[in-house]
Amino acid sequence: MNHATGLADVSDARHLDAVDPVPSQRDRFTIPTRADGAPSIYFCGNSLGLQPLAAADHVEEILEDWRRMGVDGHRGARTPWYSYHEVFREQGARLVGARPCEVVMMNSLTVNLHMLLTSFYRPEGTRTKFIMERPAFPSDIYCVQSHLQARGLDPDEHIITVGPSGSSDCVTTNDILEAIDAAGDTLATVMMGGVNFLTGQVLDMPAIAEAGHRVGAMVGFDLAHAAGNIPMQLHDWNIDFGAWCSYKYLNSGPGAIAGAFVHERHATNLDIPRLAGWWGNDPDTRFRMHLEDRFIPVPSVDSWQASNPPVLAMAPLRASLDLFDEVGMEALRSRSLRLTTFLREQLEAIPDRRYRITTPVAPEAHGCQLSIVVDGDAQQAFHDIESMGVVADFRPPDTIRVAPTPLYNTFEECHRFAVLMGQAFGGLST
Ligand SMILES: Cc1ncc(COP(=O)(O)O)c(C=O)c1O
Repeated sequence: MNHATGLADVSDARHLDAVDPVPSQRDRFTIPTRADGAPSIYFCGNSLGLQPLAAADHVEEILEDWRRMGVDGHRGARTPWYSYHEVFREQGARLVGARPCEVVMMNSLTVNLHMLLTSFYRPEGTRTKFIMERPAFPSDIYCVQSHLQARGLDPDEHIITVGPSGSSDCVTTNDILEAIDAAGDTLATVMMGGVNFLTGQVLDMPAIAEAGHRVGAMVGFDLAHAAGNIPMQLHDWNIDFGAWCSYKYLNSGPGAIAGAFVHERHATNLDIPRLAGWWGNDPDTRFRMHLEDRFIPVPSVDSWQASNPPVLAMAPLRASLDLFDEVGMEALRSRSLRLTTFLREQLEAIPDRRYRITTPVAPEAHGCQLSIVVDGDAQQAFHDIESMGVVADFRPPDTIRVAPTPLYNTFEECHRFAVLMGQAFGGLST
């Protein structure tokens, strides 16, 4: 280690890899390579996770059963397609701290948010307001705006946003709670990113839920950047609804099946209005087709399913959730905190650096991701980093997002990335 700066040597990083109590599962993933055949430093699990080796077998199982059995695969496949979503019932619930009746894998994320807002944004009288965070992911903004418009409400008038104030990079819990209190009984629904897509900040979900409930509002979260990243207790935190994709930290492939959570107290309430379809109907009467024209919701989150599930898009999730179960979310989180803390320390040990990290330092306020704001031409800076074999992503105007993920990234990669940043945007010589 360089004692003047605190920058580690590569041997220090290798030592950390060798002794970490939660070993990497890197050899169970395919790591993309650079043009010269060397493995990339893949820090983009916050956007699209890597492919577990076992994913292909699960997909091939379905393709083969389909070839062999045609329609009979619905009931006769090795994992029957009719009930394929059941495979994820326990694992999905474990992953987000929910009861089995509260979690179902269906659709994609924005679609799930739409389905859930139909049920959990029900403006009435003067209770019409909606609170979101700023910046929210654009799809969430469009989704919420369209819900207001569909109900004849002006989004500019009824959506309240809460974001960082002054020169801060992140919002404070206090500011969110104050906005909720201020909206009081005009507030219908709060929906925020449990982990902010831009800064990687983890919000205090239980405190927000409690504040929202105090004023009689529904509280839900977009958990795209939270699922598989941080441990959650959605049931105990009393969250009303949530949704997430599984192509990020859950490594299930582009456009993979998404997840939805509805708290038990709503999931078992058959009177809540919802967008219905045959897959949300009681399976005993589902195939009576034209003989049944009354929707009988399954008394669980399953009743929010409208269509029969896209099993090919679900198959890779089996490989991924098996890994999460094998290693355990708490163990992965402990490794994740060590990796991300090490990466931050290394980045902050670079002399004369022309960047700053905007992700909060407190362990409870961040997950895998660090967001780095670069001085000067950030877009060019990002291309320079990419050309050195790093896969990360860039969000205009100035943010590079990097996410060492505990399943397949290493301390050595964190060290290497910091050195590359130090050479490109700091005082390290090449
Ligand atoms: C925070 C967040 N919300 C929503 C979405 C949209 O997801 P989808 O295209 O699966 O609907 C994304 C996609 O990356 C996201 O990061």
